[in-house]
Amino acid sequence: MTVQDAATVGELAERIRPGFTLGVASAAFQIEGSLTADGRGPSSWDAFAEKPGAIVDGHSPAVACDHYNRADEDIALMQDLGVDSYRLSLSWPRIQPSGKGPINQQGLDFYDRLIDKLLKAGISPMVTLFHWDTPLPLEHDGGWLTRSTAERFAEYSAAAAGRFGDRVAQWVTLNEPVSVALQGYALGVHAPGRRLLFDALPAAHHQLLGHGLAVQALRAEGVAGAIGVANMHSPVRPASKRLTDGLMSKAFDLVFNRVYADPILLGHYPKPPLQVRPWFRALGNVSDEDLKTIHQPLDFYGVNYYYPVKIASGRGDGTTPGNHADMMTKLPFHLAAFPEYQSTGFGWPVAPEHLGILLRELKDRYGAALPPLFITESGASFPEPDHTAGPVHDSDRIDYLASHLGHALRATAPGGIAHDVELLGYYVWTLLDNFEWAAGYSQRFGLVHVDFDTLERTPKDSFYWYKSLSRARRS
Ligand code: FCB
Repeated sequence: MTVQDAATVGELAERIRPGFTLGVASAAFQIEGSLTADGRGPSSWDAFAEKPGAIVDGHSPAVACDHYNRADEDIALMQDLGVDSYRLSLSWPRIQPSGKGPINQQGLDFYDRLIDKLLKAGISPMVTLFHWDTPLPLEHDGGWLTRSTAERFAEYSAAAAGRFGDRVAQWVTLNEPVSVALQGYALGVHAPGRRLLFDALPAAHHQLLGHGLAVQALRAEGVAGAIGVANMHSPVRPASKRLTDGLMSKAFDLVFNRVYADPILLGHYPKPPLQVRPWFRALGNVSDEDLKTIHQPLDFYGVNYYYPVKIASGRGDGTTPGNHADMMTKLPFHLAAFPEYQSTGFGWPVAPEHLGILLRELKDRYGAALPPLFITESGASFPEPDHTAGPVHDSDRIDYLASHLGHALRATAPGGIAHDVELLGYYVWTLLDNFEWAAGYSQRFGLVHVDFDTLERTPKDSFYWYKSLSRARRS
């Protein structure tokens, strides 16, 4: 990233058109804690987090940010921040402890109160139905490898829609199905810890089917809000001009991006290059009826963008971030480094211009089939102290956010490289430092520092930066 990339507050505010949404995003399992309160059932992540070695330093999600008990304080923070919208996720096992059958009214009540308080604070709720916490009994029955999980997901979605459908502005069916299939079922570094490599692809298909069925369920319930999905996307590039790098890069692009976006937006799976076709055989005999179900008209499309990916053929030496899973070394390709970019605390390359490139690529691929778009997640972790007595000077996060939002706005403005993409808003990942999945509390992504011993919240400099941006824009 260059200094010029990080636009000033004034420049950014000037480019934000009235009506553009500024928000923050979170996920239930990463912040709520209270995993056994009010009749919540266990999830795939509760079980995974108990496995020795699964989470960095054995960190426990049991308390996380204690948001379940501190929601009022967190809403007050968001009100002070001046965001238009809060993207939260509902915990499926809190609402339906077994993943099927009885609905837990206390679970619904918690979110009912939360949504009402948000609205009262002038913050519009965007609600994600599934952000990775599969009810454990369903996981024991095969989880997303099993078709019936998609059907159960639609039933739970209908229950949520029935209760909140009058007040939620946007519904997101799934968050990053690619991460669940890849990290959870293929590589085993996330719940449920399966190591199936390409045999994990049914977990992709069944999530996509669950998406389609959930959209139908929400529409049948007559929800007032808009409906979409949040996919993680990375532009994928070959590490060199060698044919094998090109082939592996193309294959990775399918596994990472197109297996999810193509059926949702176009109604079919992408056609893999001949040489790698056997990898995708699980998607070869999918029925037309399933594809029709997956291909539902959407009101918006959510993009989570963190980094671009460079792919080289051959097994990696395990030194580049992203290659850490043992299972990665069994694959005939690896993630290559981006020496030209700085990196985040996670070791992810900081490459804001690739967000504009990504938007261009999506429009080129999907044309008129691409709905108006939200950046549903964008943010970065940087090394920060566990405890703080005073301000947290996270200028690297401010630069990160300013450059990413700046590129997204510039790319989609008249004359920009993605001027034909309708960008509706931008959600920072995330409000609070939280339980960052397998990385536990070691990666801090928040605008607000959380001391995980005292649970004290301390807004960082980036919080005040985002607040000043929110105030400075035209209304
Ligand atoms: C995304 C996830 C989100 C968070 C960020 C850092 O892939 O959707 O929950 O972990 O990464």
